[in-house]
Amino acid sequence: MHNPSLITSIEARNQAYRESLENPEEFWGHVADQFTWKRKWDSVLDWNFEEPNVRWFDGAQLNITENCLDRHLPERGDEIALIWESNSPNEESKKYTYNELHEAVCVFAQVLRSGGIKKGDRVCIYMGMVPELAIAVLACARVGAIHSVIFGGFSAHSVADRVNDAQATAIITCDGAYRGAKDIPLKAIIDEALQHCNSVKTVWIYERTNIEIELKEGRDILWKQAIAHVNIQEAINTPAETMEAEDPLFILYTSGSTGKPKGVVHTCGGYMVWTHYTFTNAFQYQRGWVHFCTADIGWITGHSYILYGPLTAGATTLLFEGIPTYPNPDRFWEIVEKHNVDILYTAPTAIRSLMSAGNDWVMNHKMPSLKVLGTVGEPINEEAWQWYHKMVGKGNCEIVDTWWQTETGGVLISNLAAVTPSKPTFATLPLPGVEPLLVDENGNEIFGNNVSGNLCIRKPWPGILRTTWGDHERCKQTYFSTYPGLYFTGDGALRDENGNYRITGRVDDVLNVSGHRIGTAEVENAINLHTGVIESAIVGYPHDIKGQGIYAFVIYQGLETDLRTLSHQINETVSREIGAIAKADKIQIVSGLPKTRSGKIMRRILRKIAEGELESLGDTSTLLDPSMVDSIIQGRL
Ligand code: PRX
Repeated sequence: MHNPSLITSIEARNQAYRESLENPEEFWGHVADQFTWKRKWDSVLDWNFEEPNVRWFDGAQLNITENCLDRHLPERGDEIALIWESNSPNEESKKYTYNELHEAVCVFAQVLRSGGIKKGDRVCIYMGMVPELAIAVLACARVGAIHSVIFGGFSAHSVADRVNDAQATAIITCDGAYRGAKDIPLKAIIDEALQHCNSVKTVWIYERTNIEIELKEGRDILWKQAIAHVNIQEAINTPAETMEAEDPLFILYTSGSTGKPKGVVHTCGGYMVWTHYTFTNAFQYQRGWVHFCTADIGWITGHSYILYGPLTAGATTLLFEGIPTYPNPDRFWEIVEKHNVDILYTAPTAIRSLMSAGNDWVMNHKMPSLKVLGTVGEPINEEAWQWYHKMVGKGNCEIVDTWWQTETGGVLISNLAAVTPSKPTFATLPLPGVEPLLVDENGNEIFGNNVSGNLCIRKPWPGILRTTWGDHERCKQTYFSTYPGLYFTGDGALRDENGNYRITGRVDDVLNVSGHRIGTAEVENAINLHTGVIESAIVGYPHDIKGQGIYAFVIYQGLETDLRTLSHQINETVSREIGAIAKADKIQIVSGLPKTRSGKIMRRILRKIAEGELESLGDTSTLLDPSMVDSIIQGRL
């Protein structure tokens, strides 16, 4: 399949960029022409950022899975769509051709239909990284159900919050999930979560680890029994549901500055066009390449660049169940060698952690197939960039530093591999359709180069979020009200003399720990539930491996006197409420928090203390009790 919108030179990139901004309708209409639509659009783009209301390809009808699967069958039905690599190097990998993946998706779609799942119903998916996860996601899209994948590391409490917010009627899960040496009891966590959810009627369970599970009569169905009843021919012949371009495709919950995660909504048409366009252009995907994105499908990176982007392009996508350091810190390199991976896409945290394991682990692997190395999720430091380039890529691979967010659906700022130049620690230039700008705190645009400010985007691109589930006002307030008329990313950035962007990190109360987004308010709420905790404040601090670590200042008046035990207990509470990813790295017990006279916690001061920048605490005279700062500094960890 020839991809007419693949950009192959700097000139073509500049031209595409210009055209995409001058005439977005014509530009994106042309790009969208490559896809299979059941009906073409009446208009390419209608939008305003006031409500906000963004509609791409309005009036068009499609099913995204026909673009991921069916349309590839005549030409590449026998080519590999999905390679699955187990947590254990000793277990055989599995491969699905496009024909096989198509069949598996059609079969599970039939299971969903016979379970009463209809277009628009919400289905939560809480599984390990097994092929059946990909199949479940695509089967939902096939029947028009809105999938909401919940990362397997979230606690029962977090699962329940998400299920209730989405009012999901069904759950697809596993008995357990292997992650390194662990077997995580997913089904037991679902059982606990569902004690607090009334909307769920059916739970399908794929058995992966054979950990003991309890089945609830009338609600729980084993995956293998369900598919055994499906007539395969009938399943394949049942048409995929007709979806409007602007019908929701999925909800994905992400953390913000308030305590409650929000359900970012992406729709069928624009998201498809955007993930495909960005996948093929940023990575410069070529037919026959194997693409290995190491993210979990529980996050947006997995949605866009394990599933939808690669599959709409007809690529071979690799799904890895395990973690980079198990059984040894060369698991990624082993997989790259074994499957002749062409594109490796991972997070700076993983790169730093593998770098700290020593060069021998990577030097033992030649990896001649590698062509493009991608990074995503957090700022990459120069040292990690260079190591990735020299040690992993042996100096021969392009590095693409892709900046984007759950809300953006796909990459917004990145170099295009071997087409536009890379610059270590810079995401570089915007993709066609993306018009970034920097503003100061009052919303005034900062012009010129060698400047920094808050990163906003001026116009909609096809993959922009449309709403936050059940609460459009929240979407408006969070993204479109800080700077009226602009989409506000929550990130700070600087622009160099050539217009390249470097993302410097969040400017709101959101932390980025190991590439995972964590809201400070969420963690504080969890810590405050611990018996004896009066109040707490969370800030981030630089962490060698995780990028940012979590530093908690806690006022405690309970009975526990041993600090280690107390810290452990507090983190257990965080684990129970949110999940282990949100555990604090440092917990300091304090007698009070620095507050203004109006009672607002001065986080800026706490951040400086956590970072160890004691010289630059700034003005503390507006504090209710300035001496509080000295006592916190004395107890600093
Ligand atoms: O702060 C930015 C950071 O990750 C945030 C988005 O997180 P999430 O929605 O979980 O999506 C992560 C995967 C797309 C951004 O606001 N971020 C993401 N990519 C980069 C980055 N920071 C610097 N450089 C990047 N390449």
